[in-house]
Amino acid sequence: MRTTAIINLKGGVGKTTTAINLAYQLYLMGGAVLLIDLDKQGNVSKFFNVHGYDRPSVADVLLGRDTIGGSARSLYGEKTTHGREGGFLDVLPANMSLIEADERILIDKTKPQQTRLKKALDGAEGGYDYCIIDCAPDINISVFNALVAADDVIIPVTIDRFAYDGIKEIRQQIDNARDYFNPGLEIGGCLVTSYRDNDFNREGVEYLTAVMEGHVYETRIRWSGLVNGSTFECEPLDVYSPRCAAARGYREFAREYVKGG
Ligand SMILES: Nc1ncnc2c1ncn2[C@@H]1O[C@H](COP(=O)(O)OP(=O)(O)OP(=O)(O)O)[C@@H](O)[C@H]1O
Ligand SMILES: [Mg+2]
Repeated sequence: MRTTAIINLKGGVGKTTTAINLAYQLYLMGGAVLLIDLDKQGNVSKFFNVHGYDRPSVADVLLGRDTIGGSARSLYGEKTTHGREGGFLDVLPANMSLIEADERILIDKTKPQQTRLKKALDGAEGGYDYCIIDCAPDINISVFNALVAADDVIIPVTIDRFAYDGIKEIRQQIDNARDYFNPGLEIGGCLVTSYRDNDFNREGVEYLTAVMEGHVYETRIRWSGLVNGSTFECEPLDVYSPRCAAARGYREFAREYVKGG
C-alpha cells in the first residue's frame, strides 16, 4: 500500500479538493483506495455524507478504541466474497472529536504518540493499494502521525502573495519525521492548484520550483468556478463536470502520481 499525506499549513489551498479527486481517480483506475479525513473540520466526511457522531471516526483509531476496518465506510465499489471486482473507495471520517484525541495522545505517555496511525494502517485489513490522507491546515500530533505513516507527501499550493508561508515549517516537520521515525519519507512535490495562465502565476511557479529544488509536479490544476459547484453538489469533479479544466487536471495528476510511485 502506498500512503500519501496531503499537507500544507496554509488553509484553503486545495488540500481537500486534491484528496477527494485524487482518491476518486485512483478508484476509477481500478485501485483499492482508503481516504482518511484527518481534519476536525470533517470536510471530506461532509462531502461524502459520512460526517456524524454516531459511528467511530479517525479519533477512535488514533486512540486505539477501534480499528480502520471497524471505522472506515464503503463509498464506491465493493469487495466481494471472491475478492474484488475493479476498484473501491472507502473513507475513514473525522469530526470535532479529533481535538480531544490530539489532547489525549499528548497526555498519555504510556504509548508512543507519533506512530499510532502507522500502527493502525500496518494492521489494516482490506487490501488497499492506496491510502490518501487529507490533513488539517496545522501541525499537530495527528498531522505528525500522518507524516510518520506516509510514503510520500503532496503539498498543494496556490500562487498568491502568501503562497510560500509555512513551506519552510512543513519541510522542517518532514525532516523531523524522516530523521526520527520514517527514513523513507519522500516529498512527492508541490501541486499548484487554482492555476491561471498569466505571467504572475508562471513566475510564481518558477520561484516555487527553485525554493523546492525541483519538487513541483508537472501537472497544474487550473482554476475553475465549477470546483465550488462540485463541492456544493458533493460530487467528485469527474462526475460533476468531467470536461472542466480542473477535472482534466486531476485525471492528469493521478497519472503523474501513479508513475511517481
Ligand atoms: N482548482 C480550483 N479552482 C477553483 N476553486 C478551487 C480549486 N481548488 C479548490 N478550490 C476552492 O477553494 C476552496 C478551498 O479548497 P479546499 O477546501 O480544497 O482547500 P483546503 O486546503 O482543504 O482548505 P482547509 O485548509 O480549510 O482544509 C474551496 O472553496 C474550493 O472549492
Ligand atoms: Mg481541507
